[in-house]
Amino acid sequence: MDNRVREELIPEGIIEEVRLRTEIVEVISEYVSLQRKGKNFLGLCPFHTEKTPSFTVTPEKQMFYCFGCNTGGNVFSFLMKKENWTFIECVQRLAQRCGVVLPEKEMSPREREETRLRRRFEEINEWAANYYHNILLKSPEGEPGRRYFEKRGIDSETMNRFRLGYAPDRWDGLLDYLQTRGVQPQEVAEVGLALERGKSDKDKRQFYDRFRNRVLFSILDRRNQPIAFGGRVLDDSVPKYLNSPETAYFNKGHHLYGIHRAHQGIREEGYALLVEGYMDVIALQNAGYPNAVASLGTALTRDQANLIRRYTQRVVLLYDSDDAGIHAALRGGEILRDAGIQVEVLTLLGAKDPDEFLKNHGREQFHNLLQQAATFIEFKYRTLTHQQPPRSILEKAELVHKLAPDIIKVASPVEREGYERFLSLELGLTLEAVQREITSLGQKRHQKERFEEYSPQNPISSVKNRDNITNTIICKDVPAPPQPAVELGVYRAECTLLRLLVEDISLLNRIKETLGTSFWRDSAHQQIFDYLDQEGSVPTDSNEMIQSRLASLILEELDKSQTERLFADCTKNILAAQAEENVGDLQARMVALEKSGDMAGAMALLKEIGERLKRGK
Ligand code: GTP
Ligand code: MN
Repeated sequence: MDNRVREELIPEGIIEEVRLRTEIVEVISEYVSLQRKGKNFLGLCPFHTEKTPSFTVTPEKQMFYCFGCNTGGNVFSFLMKKENWTFIECVQRLAQRCGVVLPEKEMSPREREETRLRRRFEEINEWAANYYHNILLKSPEGEPGRRYFEKRGIDSETMNRFRLGYAPDRWDGLLDYLQTRGVQPQEVAEVGLALERGKSDKDKRQFYDRFRNRVLFSILDRRNQPIAFGGRVLDDSVPKYLNSPETAYFNKGHHLYGIHRAHQGIREEGYALLVEGYMDVIALQNAGYPNAVASLGTALTRDQANLIRRYTQRVVLLYDSDDAGIHAALRGGEILRDAGIQVEVLTLLGAKDPDEFLKNHGREQFHNLLQQAATFIEFKYRTLTHQQPPRSILEKAELVHKLAPDIIKVASPVEREGYERFLSLELGLTLEAVQREITSLGQKRHQKERFEEYSPQNPISSVKNRDNITNTIICKDVPAPPQPAVELGVYRAECTLLRLLVEDISLLNRIKETLGTSFWRDSAHQQIFDYLDQEGSVPTDSNEMIQSRLASLILEELDKSQTERLFADCTKNILAAQAEENVGDLQARMVALEKSGDMAGAMALLKEIGERLKRGK
């Protein structure tokens, strides 16, 4: 749920109330066994595997931090990470726990109607899922469905876990059943499970079931709530699959099949396995890959990529090995890459899809195959050269051009050079030539981007939602470039200065007087500072990275008798570095800030750059 909705639903004061009334040690103790160590509590980190405890909870600051994996934050960030809850879900659960009553927001009549319709939509889908499921499991009418799934090796436990069903070969099975629950045929049609016949003479409206004589895959959301169905024929007739239509409450581009299990599974495994078919998801999840998901019979969308990005930064694409599958992998890979996901591609040989592969070759072979997933860039290279092996110099240059956008986006310099070397070896070009080509393409691209982002169509100042700071990227297509490295000495000085400021907010004005408001080289520091400057307190619910940084700062011991000396040292250090920073550095820093979504910081730097240029520096 985004922050806009949150602000509408729960006033800031109530969130603060919940935070104050919640004891972080109590909440975390339900997940981690904690031992007192002086002022803090210590335990084994729930976010990475460790043998000696480095997970620290500090009741004084109501924060946690792991020195092993650098995860940290407040009680909300803990639950968001541990339970995969949204911020609002955390507030709701904690409110319940500590007895704070959340205000029922006064709804307009339209909103009330909207809520009623959504609940009704969910209720009808729930009843329908049960109906189809019970027929599959128990009814004599479900016999063809049972035979079909049996043939495909699906046991009853799997039927339960995925709420599989069967729609009997009747025109009114579901309609009749739902009628006994007080659902009008018109409503069934509205949620997409029935269709209307052409008007009859007697002017009486007539409806019939959408799904007939098909096995059904319930499409479950993260809460296990059925929101749509995919229905497969039992033989080779067409269309093979029929899906619930899109409605106001179901948009297939927003969901992934299998996510009801995979939202946990992806976190557990550290990556997502993205496949094409419903049966592939089922086969993989059954074979010990709870991280398998599929798009709903369409090409992967940006929304789906962003959904995955909530759980992981790594995806292995496992599409069918035919031409359509390869094309889908190329396109899907780009969409994932642009969502900031590291993509690998696995090509299946000896089977048309993962389901068939598992059936023919077993889990162990699949496990071995998985180790051979190629990086997206390698996959793209192989595909492009397979289609048309480059012979002339021009064709080779063309190929480098095609891969350059992918290589430029690689954040690690080591990895990037690896790709450049790979290309130079494969194409028989010098490494230098390949690198020059890629770098020059990158620069062109960069200039273009910058220009686009400052065009009046994209006014940066319009983005100012403070809670959204790091999530807002204006040009969504362009992932953040690696941040310019911050010199260690300056970084340390910034940490200490920020630490002092968090301890004593009255230092804010002194800092602003001496250093201004946009001097932080580290973009997380800048964001925390901007927040403190605007709100006068530390952010409670911004993103994970900020919370971790904040927690690590707060947990650092501070010798309070040395405040003045520390303050002087830090400012001196930062001022010296500032004097050395040239306009080019400032620009790089500005680009990094704006990529991270800190528009206020970027604007301030832009101003400073303008002033320096005027002064002729
Ligand atoms: P099986 O043949 O049962 O193994 O199905 P599959 O899931 O392997 O199907 P396939 O690889 O042919 O297709 C992959 C996915 O594309 C399916 O799971 C569906 O989501 C979707 N799909 C396939 N055929 C159709 C169709 O005829 N109509 C629609 N709307 N979607 C389809
Ligand atoms: Mn299949």
